Amino acid sequence: MSTPTQQNALLLLAKQGDFAVQTRPVPSPGPGELLVRNEASGLNPVDWKIQAYGLFIKDYPAVLGTDAAGVIVAVGEGVPTWKVGDKVLYEGRRPNDRATFQKYALVDADFVSQIPDTLTFEQAASIPLALTTAAVGLYNQAGGPRFTPPWVEGSRFKYAGPMVVIGGSSVVGSLALQLSRLSGFSPIITTASLKNAELLTGFGATHVLDRNLSASALREQVFELAGGAVPVVYDAISLPDTQNAAFDLLGKDGKLLTLLAPAVDEDKQKNANGRTVVSVAGHILRPENQDFGRVLFSKLTGLLKNGDLKPLHVDIIPGGLAGIPIGLDKLKNNQVSASKVVVQPQETA
Ligand SMILES: NC(=O)c1ccc[n+]([C@@H]2O[C@H](COP(=O)([O-])OP(=O)(O)OC[C@H]3O[C@@H](n4cnc5c(N)ncnc54)[C@H](OP(=O)(O)O)[C@@H]3O)[C@@H](O)[C@H]2O)c1
Repeated sequence: MSTPTQQNALLLLAKQGDFAVQTRPVPSPGPGELLVRNEASGLNPVDWKIQAYGLFIKDYPAVLGTDAAGVIVAVGEGVPTWKVGDKVLYEGRRPNDRATFQKYALVDADFVSQIPDTLTFEQAASIPLALTTAAVGLYNQAGGPRFTPPWVEGSRFKYAGPMVVIGGSSVVGSLALQLSRLSGFSPIITTASLKNAELLTGFGATHVLDRNLSASALREQVFELAGGAVPVVYDAISLPDTQNAAFDLLGKDGKLLTLLAPAVDEDKQKNANGRTVVSVAGHILRPENQDFGRVLFSKLTGLLKNGDLKPLHVDIIPGGLAGIPIGLDKLKNNQVSASKVVVQPQETA
């Protein structure tokens, strides 16, 4: 199949404006780059937040999207490791040529992983940003715990002791659970709707607590299961109420990893006893994450192949790129539970 010169893309037309499927050029890969035909693109909460609040993007129209899986259709100079036809997953970068809400996108050859035969494109697209965000938080974030990753020789199951993941059924939370299991933490305590308990146990949670518990009931149950306060909480939800409840679970010098802006009450922080709130910046292409990310992407195929990391359930929205605004509304309206919302860009009419 030859690569076209023009393609469909979902464009955010203006700051806080509408999305529309339009035509734009297919980019060519430069040195060290690949061109990927996106067979599945994953949606993230940040995509609706960018539209609703006018975040991050300076120039419009703009292509968004940070998760995808597809097939390499062109290889730039100096890339001996990949060939046309390889099936890969990758973390995209907005806006435009490297973003994933379009049929074809560019990606740096160092930040892709081969998709094992056991995974569909849609399952593969559920992984990149959630994995990198979970992994950066646990292993690479400045100010964070900086545990040694389980893919470093001799470091699998290196740790003992408790880990708490708030929101284990979120996409990021489910990867944080799986990494916590590979790192050896126990017990691994998480919060979610209890209908998701069995799924989360499969991801490594030893205890699934009802997400609707009051902060004090949560504290009581976590302390009982963990034998006291815990050193690290990964808050994969990071709303003010979860951050405040999570902060109360920490012992002296404990670390709360958050995915949104810190929102722990000032009076709690005044009596912090060494406890800190650490914002996780999960994008793997940030300069401080790139060395870490190269290794992670080189190890990922193996981790997926042997089942160390499992993909999430996927919720496929029909209509190709035109389905993205429908999927973003589902995310915005909290209608997604324990699933990654994906579209199939090649289905775009
Ligand atoms: N900082 C970064 O680099 C970065 C990167 C990626 C994402 N994020 C942010 O991280 C957050 C999570 O993203 P995501 O894609 O993982 O979300 P998601 O999968 O869309 O979140 C939906 C899930 O959240 C769970 N949930 C919602 N409120 C909860 C609560 N109060 N307690 C426990 N669970 C709750 C739901 O659980 P149940 O269905 O079980 O009730 C549902 O499964 C978003 O705000 C996103 O913008 C930040």
